[in-house]
Amino acid sequence: MHKPVLVKEVIKFLNPQRNQNFIDATYGFGGHSKELLKYIKPKGKILAFEWDPFLVELNKKNLMQEKNIILKNANFTKIKKIVKELNFTKIKGVIFDLGISSWHLENSKRGFSFNKDEFLDMRINPKEIKITAFEVVNYYSKERLIEILKNYGEEKRAKEIVDAILDKRRFKKIETSKELAEIIMNVCKRKNKIHPATKTFMALRTFINNELENLEEGLKQAFDVLDKNGRIAIITFQGLEDKVVKKVFKELKRKGAKMITKNVVRPSRNEILENPRSRSAKLRVIQKNG
Ligand SMILES: C[S@@+](CC[C@H](N)C(=O)[O-])C[C@H]1O[C@@H](n2cnc3c(N)ncnc32)[C@H](O)[C@@H]1O
Repeated sequence: MHKPVLVKEVIKFLNPQRNQNFIDATYGFGGHSKELLKYIKPKGKILAFEWDPFLVELNKKNLMQEKNIILKNANFTKIKKIVKELNFTKIKGVIFDLGISSWHLENSKRGFSFNKDEFLDMRINPKEIKITAFEVVNYYSKERLIEILKNYGEEKRAKEIVDAILDKRRFKKIETSKELAEIIMNVCKRKNKIHPATKTFMALRTFINNELENLEEGLKQAFDVLDKNGRIAIITFQGLEDKVVKKVFKELKRKGAKMITKNVVRPSRNEILENPRSRSAKLRVIQKNG
């Protein structure tokens, strides 16, 4: 099951109060939403976005009794559209908790994890995204693959890894996450705790799901729909997400927004011990001008 990260810190900075409205841009299993809900009842509402239709289906039963959470199976790049359609107003805060959930890695069977032997799919929303990791790995040109590994994964050994992929796929299609992880392991021996396939898997997932482009668009829309003095709290897990957040926040500051976190907020030692996935999390908070 997915453990939400930096929950106490998000609550502290978003400071939810009775009857206020919030947006959860990345619902997952609703860890952050459920905590926010405790403070905003009885009349406050959370408009939640979750792009993965299977995850929305899994959440449906739990949410039947919960009238204060409106869960939409939609990309957070549709925030403005859906806020308008629902006439959802007086939004005091938005939480973004980026990436995928532990459920995606452990249970979705879509090849997100290099520790599993599953078909290389990696689409967060298989109904909306047409291209799978299988197609990228097996049919994209050498140059394009190197570019993806560098630009979406900051993989320094992109060329060597892609050469090995091309050597392999000449004889047989690379079908599963395990096959791909093994090809990379043969090129880059494990030197520390980090698996050598980490960056390649990150690059493929980020590229296929258009994650960096979505992030820029979603953040800007979230800021536009916020009430005066409303806040955005955003949790990132990798350097390329950080770059996008810093770039957008810089633009927003020029429009008068105020940084609430002077330095990024990181999980405590205890949280990292209890939930190792949280170790790379960084929280930043920005406030709209009044
Ligand atoms: C780290 S998880 C969020 C976990 C959640 N905070 C919780 O406590 O359960 C990120 C979630 O965002 C979803 N997601 C990723 N990109 C999205 C997008 N562009 N729009 C909406 N949801 C997205 C993923 O499917 C995943 O479930």
